[in-house]
Amino acid sequence: MRLLQILALLTTIAWLLACGKQEASKTTEQQNLQGQISKEVSDPKLARGKAVYDETGCATCHMVAGIGGRTGPSLDGIGKKYDAEKLKEILLNPKTLNPNTVMPPFEGSDEDLDALVDYLLSLK
Ligand code: HEC
Repeated sequence: MRLLQILALLTTIAWLLACGKQEASKTTEQQNLQGQISKEVSDPKLARGKAVYDETGCATCHMVAGIGGRTGPSLDGIGKKYDAEKLKEILLNPKTLNPNTVMPPFEGSDEDLDALVDYLLSLK
């Protein structure tokens, strides 16, 4: 009888510890996310570019900082891989990368394209 009580107590403690751990990692994740959002919004030009990125639905296929789809490659570090000119070429004509690509060409205004390219260049 006593053994059962001890077992029940141990299970409860283990359960409580596990919950505590999960809570802790969740807050760190949220803090990281928040750090990123405030960093981007502090520069109005990048904020516009990020808005274009979100509105155009790039994230359905691409991941940035762990958020987004997996159809296309992650865009982390894309600002180191290409310069502004090459990025524009890719966005306006994704077929330059792959003639059979599923990526749609960008159809927004020149201003939005520039803002989007600035945002992509900031991903280093
Ligand atoms: C329907 C899915 C899809 C959407 C939407 C999409 N892409 Fe892509 N993108 C791809 C795929 C797939 C590739 C890889 C090229 C290939 O092999 O087709 C790619 C490649 C790229 C590359 C080159 C990556 C590299 O490392 O060479 C960039 C930059 C890029 N996309 C940016 C964007 C941006 C910005 C948007 C939004 C305006 C966007 N993509 C929307 C699927 C997509």
